[in-house]
Parts: sequence; structure tokens; C-alpha cells
Amino acid sequence: MLSGKEDIVLSCDALWVSEAISNIVKNALEHTENGGHIGVKWSQSPLMTQIEISDDGKGIHPEDLYNIFKRFYRSRFSSDVHGIGLGLPLAKSIVEAHGGTISVTSSLGAGTTFTLNFLNITDE
Ligand SMILES: Nc1ncnc2c1ncn2[C@@H]1O[C@H](COP(=O)(O)OP(=O)(O)OP(=O)(O)O)[C@@H](O)[C@H]1O
Ligand SMILES: [Mg+2]
Repeated sequence: MLSGKEDIVLSCDALWVSEAISNIVKNALEHTENGGHIGVKWSQSPLMTQIEISDDGKGIHPEDLYNIFKRFYRSRFSSDVHGIGLGLPLAKSIVEAHGGTISVTSSLGAGTTFTLNFLNITDE
């Protein structure tokens, strides 16, 4: 599900930022059961542009939350899904290269939300 105003513009390297978002959406798909929901929401204030990607999948164990942005980190709780452990570190590098931040909140069994914040570029 997508929600947000269509006239919002984010000045960024569109290819790289799409790569970051698609890595997060791909994870959401991998960790959510059939019939689950994945949402991408965006909004803008004068200062910031925010993109939120949320799912109601199985969530991330608190033990993992501190580690998931590290290279090659894969949770011992998600051995059912195969991956390398590079998707999130890459997403974080891309967001930070744009002067943005990425954060995550999650609760086991309930779902996960990744929040990307970008400072708006101004001429001043
Ligand atoms: N939406 C999510 N729900 C539950 N767990 C997640 C979610 N997103 C990431 N994770 C956990 O974080 C780990 C790291 O994610 P990351 O994308 O960096 O690597 P990966 O998906 O395992 O491999 P790759 O993306 O390189 O193929 C995952 O293995 C998984 O345990
Ligand atoms: Mg991944």
C-alpha cells in the first residue's frame, strides 16, 4: 500500500535511493506471511522528507535490532530466509551519503517499520 502526496519531490540520486528502498521492501516481503501488509508512506515538512516502510510481518528480535545494519549480519532467528546480510548496510550507506538518517522500530510477531529522514536541500 502506498500513501503520500504525489507532488512531493526529494532531491537525491534517484537510482541509489530506489536501491535503498527496494532493499527494505524486499526484506519486508521476505519476513511477512502471505496475506500480510507492507506500506510505504512519505511526507514532507519544510525541513525534512520522511519515508516510512512498514510491515506486519514477524518482526525483528530485540537482540538483532542493534546489529541489522552491520555487514553480513543475519539473524539466527531468520534462518528460513536466505540472504547475504548486505541489503540494510547498503541502504544505510546510501541514506547517509544523502545526509539522511535511517532508523528501525520493531516488535516480535507484530511487525517492523523503517524510517528514512532526509534534510531538504535549500539554496540558502
Ligand atoms: N522487515 C523485516 N522483518 C524481519 N526481519 C528483518 C526485516 N528486515 C530485515 N530483517 C532482518 O535483518 C537481517 C539483515 O537484513 P539485510 O537486508 O541486511 O540482509 P539479508 O536480507 O539477510 O540479505 P541480503 O539483503 O543481502 O540478501 C535479515 O537477515 C533479517 O533477519
Ligand atoms: Mg535483505
